[in-house]
Formats: sequence, structure tokens, C-alpha cells
Amino acid sequence: MQIKGKTVDASKAIMTEMIMPNDTNPIHNLMGGNLLRWMDVVAGICAGRHCESYVVTVSVDHVSFDKPIPLGDVITLECVVTRAFNTSCEVYVEVFSSNIKGKNTRRCNDAYFTFVAVDDKDKKPIKVPALLPHSAVEIKRYDAALKRRQLRLLLSGRLGKKQAKELQAQLLSDESLFSN
Ligand SMILES: CC(C)(COP(=O)(O)OP(=O)(O)OC[C@H]1O[C@@H](n2cnc3c(N)ncnc32)[C@H](O)[C@@H]1OP(=O)(O)O)[C@@H](O)C(=O)NCCC(=O)NCCS
Repeated sequence: MQIKGKTVDASKAIMTEMIMPNDTNPIHNLMGGNLLRWMDVVAGICAGRHCESYVVTVSVDHVSFDKPIPLGDVITLECVVTRAFNTSCEVYVEVFSSNIKGKNTRRCNDAYFTFVAVDDKDKKPIKVPALLPHSAVEIKRYDAALKRRQLRLLLSGRLGKKQAKELQAQLLSDESLFSN
């Protein structure tokens, strides 16, 4: 049975990790690749809950590492689905870090991940439930997700400039950004 629509809260996912020596780079801060792995795992859990299926990562938008996260800190990764499309959905991940005493909390980075839902047997894309945004923040993220989707499909060569209607007015005046 096709599920009509689901709330953001229904699939929200949170992961907490302490930075151990094995997670760090040679200067004793969290290594970027380890953070990306945790982000991918928790975002995938969030997407899987929304889609009620296995999901695969199809794209990760720009990620910047704004603040170093030292050995011994405790990080929290918070994920929400921002919008569901046909067989894919976008997940927003935010990363916060604190010391072991729960102090000096700061937001270290964020990113958008896109997942495709696949069926159990053939691992082929399947339709996903719609997202029903409620709060002002959820609606804002939902609306903006359409433009982000067009941008990533443009950059990956899957969408022509003319098809990216919502983006055209804002971005496509800069010809140097796109080759197709
Ligand atoms: C994800 C995968 C199944 C999609 O297969 P496909 O033949 O491209 O399927 P489709 O063309 O029907 O696209 C499926 C969805 O992916 C989206 N998509 C494809 N490439 C994308 C990209 N670069 N960025 C964002 N979305 C993308 C499409 O827009 C479509 O979404 P929609 O149905 O909501 O509109 C296939 O590319 C795959 O298996 N990739 C490897 C995934 C993986 O193993 N990830 C782990 C890291 S290695």
C-alpha cells in the first residue's frame, strides 16, 4: 500500500559519538572522512525511516569543516528529511560538538545528502512517501529543496538548464557556472 505522506518528526534521527584516538588525524582532531562516514550513516537511517525501505546515497552536497573537533569531544549529528521527490529524498544533517561536560557547544558543520529508495529484491528505485512539512522552518527547507535538487542535477549533468525553472532567474545568469 502506498503511504500518502509522513511528517518530519516521524523519521528524525540523532547520533552521538565520542571522538576516540582512532577517529583523529595526526594533529588530534576528528578526521574529516570519519565525520563524513557518520553523517552518511545517520542520514541514511533517517531516509530509511522515511522511505520504509533500504536506501542508497546518490549525492552529497558541498560539505565544509568549519571548526576542528578535538579528541575527547562529544558530537551530535541531527538529521531530518527536508523533502521527498519521486524515488529520492533529501536529508539535512547538522553536526554539533561539546566537551565531555556538555559545555562549549558549537555547530561544526552541515550538509545535504540525497538518498534513493530501493526495493528489497532487485535494488531498483521505488517510489517514496511525500513529506508533509508543518513548521515554518520545515516549510522553508521544503521549498528550497526543489532548487537544491535542480542545482545538483544540473551539476551532475542530469538536467538541462532550461528544465531548471526555479533556478533560472536566480542562478543561471552566471554562464560560467555550468557547462551543459
Ligand atoms: C542510486 C541509483 C540506484 C539510481 O539509479 P538510476 O538508474 O540513476 O535511477 P534514476 O535515473 O531513476 O534516478 C533515481 C533517482 O535518483 C536521483 N538522482 C540520480 N542522480 C542524482 C544525483 N547526482 N544527485 C541527486 N539525485 C540524483 C534522480 O533524480 C531520481 O530521483 P527522483 O526519482 O526522486 O526524481 C544508482 O545510481 C546507484 O545504484 N548508485 C550507487 C549508489 C551507491 O551505491 N551509493 C553508495 C555509495 S558508493
